Amino acid sequence: MKNILESPIITEICDMTANMYRLGWDERNGGNISWLLDEQELAEYLDLSQVIRNIPIAFDAAELAGRIFLVTGTGKYFKNVTGNPQENLGIVRVASNGTELELLWGFEGGALPTSEFPTHLMNHMARLKADPEHRIVMHCHPANTIAMTFVHSIDDREFTCTLWQMITECIVVFPDGVGVVPWMVSGTNDIGEATARKIKDCRLVVWAHHGIFGTGRTLDEAFGLIETVEKAAQIYMKIAHLDIKNTIPKEQLKALAETFHAVPREGWLD
Ligand code: 13P
Ligand code: ZN
Repeated sequence: MKNILESPIITEICDMTANMYRLGWDERNGGNISWLLDEQELAEYLDLSQVIRNIPIAFDAAELAGRIFLVTGTGKYFKNVTGNPQENLGIVRVASNGTELELLWGFEGGALPTSEFPTHLMNHMARLKADPEHRIVMHCHPANTIAMTFVHSIDDREFTCTLWQMITECIVVFPDGVGVVPWMVSGTNDIGEATARKIKDCRLVVWAHHGIFGTGRTLDEAFGLIETVEKAAQIYMKIAHLDIKNTIPKEQLKALAETFHAVPREGWLD
C-alpha cells in the first residue's frame, strides 16, 4: 500500500484549505469541502474493506450508495488541516442503506463530517445529473460576497447580472450564473434541498448573509468559480455607493459571450 499522506488527494486538499484560510474565506471552522473520489485510485492507498466505524446521517443518500468522499470535519479549522490531516479530514463511503457513512480513513479522535454534509451530498446528486464528471463541493465565507447579499437584490438573475457587469471575464467564467438562497438555518436538510434545487442549473450558489458553494470537476474549478465571484463582489462593494458613470451594457455582455463561446443563462440578458 502507498502512503495516503503522500497521495495527490491529501496533498491537494491540504494546499487548498491552507490557501483558502490565507485568503480569509475560512475563519475559525468556517467552510467545508467534499470530494467524490475515484475508488480505483484510492485502493492503491487504503484497504477499502476495512471500516473503522459507522456514522449515521440524517437523510437518505441511497442514490450515492457505495460512493466514497473525502470530507472536512465539523468544527475543524482549515488552517490546521495541513499539520494534521488525519484528525481534520475523513474518507467515508455511503453505506448501502443510504443513511450511514462507513469511515475508511481519518477523523481520528472521534471527529465527524461537516455539519453541511447533507447539503454537500444533495449538491453532489444534483451536479452529477448535470455533469457526470462533477467531483467537488466547496463551501466558504468570502467577505465581499456575503456583504453584497445585504445591499443587493438576492434574485438569482439580478444578482448574477450585476456580477457579470463587474469584471469582463465573469460571464465567460460562470455563464451558468449564480443561484442565491435566502437566509435559512444552516446544517439542515431544508437548506440542502433549497441549494440543490438551484445548483442543478449552475455551479455556484450563494447563501445570503452566510457564504457560497462552488462545485466543479476539480478543486481548481470550484475554487476558481468562487474566486471570480468574490472578486466581482469586491468591486461591487467598492463602487455600489458611488456615482456610477460607466458600465458594460447587456448587449456588450452578449457579444462577449458569443466571442468566447460561452452560453449565458437563457433570457437573463434580455
Ligand atoms: P462545519 O465546521 O460543520 O464544517 O461548519 C462550518 C460552516 O461553514 C457551516 O456553514
Ligand atoms: Zn458556512
